[in-house]
Amino acid sequence: MKRIGVLTSGGDAPGMNAAIRAVVRKCIYHEIEVYGISHGFLGLIEGNMKKFEIGSVGDIIHRGGTMLHTARCEAFRTEAGQLKGLNQLKKNKIDGLIVIGGDGSIKGAQALTRLDYPCIGIPATIDNDIVETDFSIGFDTALNTIIEAIDKIRDTATSHERTYVIEVMGRNSGNLALWAGLADGAESILIPEKASDFESVIRRLKRGCERGKKHSIIILSEGVDHGFKYGQKIQEATNLETRVTILGHIQRGGSPSAQDRVLASRLGGKAVDLLRANEYGKLTGIKGSRVVSLDILDALASESKINENMYKLAQQLSI
Ligand code: F6P
Repeated sequence: MKRIGVLTSGGDAPGMNAAIRAVVRKCIYHEIEVYGISHGFLGLIEGNMKKFEIGSVGDIIHRGGTMLHTARCEAFRTEAGQLKGLNQLKKNKIDGLIVIGGDGSIKGAQALTRLDYPCIGIPATIDNDIVETDFSIGFDTALNTIIEAIDKIRDTATSHERTYVIEVMGRNSGNLALWAGLADGAESILIPEKASDFESVIRRLKRGCERGKKHSIIILSEGVDHGFKYGQKIQEATNLETRVTILGHIQRGGSPSAQDRVLASRLGGKAVDLLRANEYGKLTGIKGSRVVSLDILDALASESKINENMYKLAQQLSI
C-alpha cells in the first residue's frame, strides 16, 4: 500500500472528522500517501481528490460534520457508476479505499469489494443500525444531543403540565428513540421495528394523569409517524394539552462526545492497519471494548439491531 484514499458518505455523523484524522495520521506515520476524496462516492466518480498533508487534519478532532463533505449518490448504486469510481481509483493510483459512513456507504464499499478492489468500511451513522458493531461513530453524540433537548423540554412540560411528543431521527431504525427513551424515562417509545399500539400509549398517559403526573414524554421515531400528526391524535384521544417537538438535523451536528472521538480514532487506526496487512474487504467495528473486523460482504445481512431486553425494560420502567 503506497497510496490510500478516504471518503465520507451518506448522512454525516459527529466523529467523522476524528476518523478522517486518525486515517490520515496513521497513514503518514507509516509513510503511506493519503488522499481525501470529497463529497463521498459522487466525488469519487468525478475524481475529486486531494493529497492530505500532516497539517491538513489539525484542529478537526473536536468538530462535527465532515471536512471532506458528504453526499448521497444515486449514481454509485449502479454498476456504471461503480465502474467510473473504480476507474478514478486506478487512474489516480490509489491502492486502497477507506469508506466512512452508514449502511448506504457500506453497500458502496461492498460493491467495490465485489469488483475486487481493496476496500475497508468504518461504520459512522447516528442511527447505530449496523448490526455488526455495538456502536457506530456519531450515535453517542446524537443521543446526548437528544437527552439535552428532552431535559429542557421536560422543564417546560412540567411547568405547563403538558404532554410532549418528541420526534427523533431514524427512518428505519429505532435505536436513538429507544436509548433516549430509556435514558430519559419516557412514558412511551415508538420505533419502526415494533408495531405500535396506540391504545396502550393512551392507557399509559391516562394512568399517569390519574397518579398525578405533571407531564408526559412520548418519543417517536420519524419512521413511525409524523410528529405533528401523532401529537394531534394524542390530544384528540386524551384531551391532554399536547405539544410536538421535531428535533431534526440538530441531532446530526455538534462537537463529538469523548466516546465518539475515541471510537473514531480506534476504528480509523484499525482500518489503516487492515489495509497494511492486506486484509481487504473488511468492516471495522467495536464489540464490547474490542476493536474487531469482519468480512464486509457479510455485513448488513440482519436488519434489526433493537435490543429486545432493553425495549422490554423501557416498557417495564415506564408503568
Ligand atoms: O441516516 C442518518 C439520518 O440522519 C437518518 O436518521 C435520517 O432519517 C436521515 O439520515 C435523514 O437524511 P437527510 O439528511 O437526507 O434528510
